[in-house]
Amino acid sequence: MAQLTEHPAHSALVAHHERVKELHMRDLFAADPGRFDNYSLRLGDVLFDYSKNRVTDETLGLLFDLARQAGVEARRDAMFAGEKINRTENRAVLHVALRNRANRPIAVDGRDVMPDVNKVLNQMRIFCGRVHSGQWKGYTGKAITDVVNIGIGGSDLGPQMASLALAHYAVPGITSHFVSNVDGAHMVDTLRRVSPETTLFIIASKTFTTLETMANAHDARDWFLAQAGDEAAVAKHFVALSTNAEAVAAFGIDTANMFAFWDWVGGRYSLWSAIGLSIALAVGFDNFEAMLEGAFIADEHFRSAPLERNIPVVMGLLGIWYNNYFGAQTQAILPYDQHLTRFAAYFQQGDMESNGKSVTNDGRFVDYTTGPIIWGEPGTNGQHAFYQLIHQGRKLIPCDFLAAAVTRTPLGRHQDMLLSNFFAQTEALMKGKTVDEARGELTGKGLDEAQLELLSKAKSFTGNRPTNSFLYRVLDPKTLGTLIALYEHKIFVQGTIWDINSYDQMGVELGKVLAGTILKELEDDAPVKSHDCSTNGLVNYYKELRLG
Ligand code: F6P
Repeated sequence: MAQLTEHPAHSALVAHHERVKELHMRDLFAADPGRFDNYSLRLGDVLFDYSKNRVTDETLGLLFDLARQAGVEARRDAMFAGEKINRTENRAVLHVALRNRANRPIAVDGRDVMPDVNKVLNQMRIFCGRVHSGQWKGYTGKAITDVVNIGIGGSDLGPQMASLALAHYAVPGITSHFVSNVDGAHMVDTLRRVSPETTLFIIASKTFTTLETMANAHDARDWFLAQAGDEAAVAKHFVALSTNAEAVAAFGIDTANMFAFWDWVGGRYSLWSAIGLSIALAVGFDNFEAMLEGAFIADEHFRSAPLERNIPVVMGLLGIWYNNYFGAQTQAILPYDQHLTRFAAYFQQGDMESNGKSVTNDGRFVDYTTGPIIWGEPGTNGQHAFYQLIHQGRKLIPCDFLAAAVTRTPLGRHQDMLLSNFFAQTEALMKGKTVDEARGELTGKGLDEAQLELLSKAKSFTGNRPTNSFLYRVLDPKTLGTLIALYEHKIFVQGTIWDINSYDQMGVELGKVLAGTILKELEDDAPVKSHDCSTNGLVNYYKELRLG
């Protein structure tokens, strides 16, 4: 194992960057009319256009060298083979097994995991059938109309993102709700909208110990029991998705109503597992399965395509190019699709919890930057909010644009209007507008020289701002599955090159432990002195204010 900076390709990239950093994409496009064909890839109907990046053949060649030197292929094969590549937790990383539609055996500790995967999928299918048909009845004999998923992080963001993305496929008569925040408002607001007789609560937690989820789950059960008045009714309204059968039983959920998954499924990669039950209930099990199919297509591509034709590899390498050589700090994800409104938030956890690390797989601190800050909002909303800085600010912000050609919610010319903005933005970000071009447009408009000078600069755009474009026919479950899996594998590629473990999340622990200590201190009104003066000051002012 070697750090990024120890690979020969790294020094070559540093030197290469010095030579090409001023190259303008406008000139690269002018010099090569075949740039789009050369720098775009397809997977099914998903087009990945990466031609609007500040790269040449030489850049890409060096980046592929880096991937090879970092052992991306060997590590990828190790992941798919069920090897314990999550070394800090000594676990396999097998979200790919959850969508292994070929049913190829994958062994962990000498045991094929596929029979267990298939068993739970079948349990989910049967359960969804019973809920959707009205066969599964609440304690007063009524069918389920509302599903409340109680979970946080990976046990919330994926199900919520996918249920929204596939809103067009919503099963009639079922309304989905998601409660994650420990802020009581989230639960209180949700409970106001549902009836205990017709609500199914899904307690989604890999560990079944997460403070927020357990607090919300207990609240939901108390609220339910206050109205149903009978412990026996709980079984008809509460199911659990977890790896921890003991804790599920201790909570009072019959393990017959538990959908299992395993320690080799990372929380932020778990929407393909039983954690996807709320997706399957929202859009139907067949559509959930179609998502798995779509992800499998991406998995097969990632496993078998040569690095040069491999979409997640190219995505990952381009990210490394900007992150480690241009010093870009962030990566925007900009879906031109209202239904992908939570896509960036989903990969904010997916990417930042995976690659926000500083220690290598063999326990050394890295001296280079790792995971980017992921952010973004859908479509034209962003244009009227933060695109100003992307176009004219001094920061380099690589952006991913995503859109479907065909909308499931057609309305007049809206789709053409939406897509015209997508195309225009990537063009503008690439080309920019020179001061001379701006001056040319302003000349003859009656401005004095000082105004002309000022405005031609203010209205100029440097351009040369990189974008990737994903364009596909329609956002159906299969395509959604493919897109998610491509991004997951991009995270893998980058984590491998940075030589970090993308599959633990030790960085969320310290805050959790300290919150536990402080929660105890909030039990009384006595001032605290045990922390730094800022924390003491905040805690004590809170105690003072809450007294009224
Ligand atoms: O934020 C830390 C984390 O462990 C995430 O990785 C995970 O998705 C989330 O908490 C929820 O964990 P659980 O599913 O165990 O409740």
